[in-house]
Amino acid sequence: MKLSERVNNLVESATMAVTGRAAALRREGIDIVSFGAGEPDFDTPDHIKAAAIEALRGGATKYATPSSGILPLKEAVVGKLQRENGLEYAPASEVIITVGGKEGLYLAFSALVDEGDEVIIPAPYWVSYPEQVGLNGGVPVYVQGSVDNSFKITPTQLRAAITPKTKAFVFNSPSNPGGFLYTPEEVDALAAVLDSTGIIVFSDEMYDRIIFGGRKFKSYAAASDHAYAHTITFNAGSKTYSMTGWRVGYAAGPAAIIKGMSKIQTQTTSGTFTFGQHGLVAALNGDQACVEEMRQEFESRAAHIHRRLNALDGVSCPEPAGAFYVFPDVSGTFKKLGVSGSIEFSQRLLEEAHVAVVPGEAFGVDAAVRLSFATSMENIDKGLDRITDFLA
Ligand SMILES: Cc1ncc(COP(=O)(O)O)c(C=O)c1O
Repeated sequence: MKLSERVNNLVESATMAVTGRAAALRREGIDIVSFGAGEPDFDTPDHIKAAAIEALRGGATKYATPSSGILPLKEAVVGKLQRENGLEYAPASEVIITVGGKEGLYLAFSALVDEGDEVIIPAPYWVSYPEQVGLNGGVPVYVQGSVDNSFKITPTQLRAAITPKTKAFVFNSPSNPGGFLYTPEEVDALAAVLDSTGIIVFSDEMYDRIIFGGRKFKSYAAASDHAYAHTITFNAGSKTYSMTGWRVGYAAGPAAIIKGMSKIQTQTTSGTFTFGQHGLVAALNGDQACVEEMRQEFESRAAHIHRRLNALDGVSCPEPAGAFYVFPDVSGTFKKLGVSGSIEFSQRLLEEAHVAVVPGEAFGVDAAVRLSFATSMENIDKGLDRITDFLA
């Protein structure tokens, strides 16, 4: 049977591959410490669950109308973006509710990218960007961040990557895989580079509420009027409210783009489930104490894991400024271990030390690996003890 070229060209998620092998070893009775998780290790707060249950009991079991999302949720999204990000949107025409953040991004690539269009993606990047661009006929153009600049790219690098074929620029801060956060000044400086272009910016702000050390977050769309008119802002309940399994996300941006995304959504998923949307309404409009509790826990874990990783010979770990990942450069250990890169490093670590990490190659940087600290402090220490022995 011949599958489409599109599918044949698709790379399977490396995160899933590691999780799969770790699960197989666990089935054999081996105690694995996993740093692979891409989701918070907390349950969804009760008041959010209660709102969805009430909506379900009340009959919110039909298609959402319109399929781009129920109005109360679009209004709650508008409220969030206004309050926290200083951005103004019209609920009915400039907001779409999506099946997690991932569908939002996919719909936007699908609505904007034509065959051969280039999309600038800073590396390291979240694994799905290049694949979603490719699925829509686009060409990813990578711009490499350097470890000395916390893997962030500079305005000069961005400028150099622009060609007449550039359609979009993907901006993710705080980032997966490393919790790298662009300061407000850095956001403004990148936006200034694009000010004279028609390039559309995909600002993936999934981790905007998980920020450490009192650092400031700035939405890309808030950089200038031009940025606002050319940016789609993506977010979801997934990371902020620990709702990954719910699959409820949203995007806001220029009406013409949101309309295009909604059109594709009506012919594909018909949007996300109605009673779940009521859950996100409660999350966005309700008490935010739960967000702060989770953030504080991530903050202490971040400091701890960062300190311990940096104490290791051959490991250089930029400080995570947000999210729940660290992305240490481990290339200084490759020679001694006799490994060729991050894949072999991760395989050896899993098989010999029973610790699961994700190879940086999957994120476009083969010198590094990703560790998620969405796991208990006890597990973090147990895993780091094993890594320390493995590298000794
Ligand atoms: C940077 C980034 N964007 C988007 C997503 C997708 O989020 P969701 O689970 O809401 O689809 C993730 C999830 O891992 C992510 O890390």
